Amino acid sequence: MPGSCGMAEGWPASAASALRLCASSELAEKGRAIVFDVLHFREPARAFALRFDGRVVAYLNRCVHVPTELDWQPGEFLDSGREFILCSIHGAAYEPRSGRCLGGPCGRGRLTALDVFEVDGEVWWRSTRDTQPAPVLETQGSPSQ
Ligand code: FES
Repeated sequence: MPGSCGMAEGWPASAASALRLCASSELAEKGRAIVFDVLHFREPARAFALRFDGRVVAYLNRCVHVPTELDWQPGEFLDSGREFILCSIHGAAYEPRSGRCLGGPCGRGRLTALDVFEVDGEVWWRSTRDTQPAPVLETQGSPSQ
């Protein structure tokens, strides 16, 4: 079922820089988000993607009020009613579809959106000049005895 969320039906024209985030089935409606590492303006940061009203949305995991992570447990961003993205620190509420602040100390701010799309049962993220994938750390093999 291509194009059930994201920016467009099928592959966007400029999908060359797209990175696979997860299988579509890993994001349940209003369920737990996947969290992933990025570089935002070359600084390590985290981002998250979740499904809301059938569409996958993704944002930098950074509150507008104070630049800290939002989730109250790893991957848990929504309030108990599953209607808002809620900051765990001071309770700022964000609209999940747009990232716009709806109430609390986030004022007129808005979460930083990432460009995600869904094709053929996979969720993809298209990086930008400002927000790039975090480098993958190489493992050093098994620890010595
Ligand atoms: S840090 Fe998010 S509301 Fe204050």
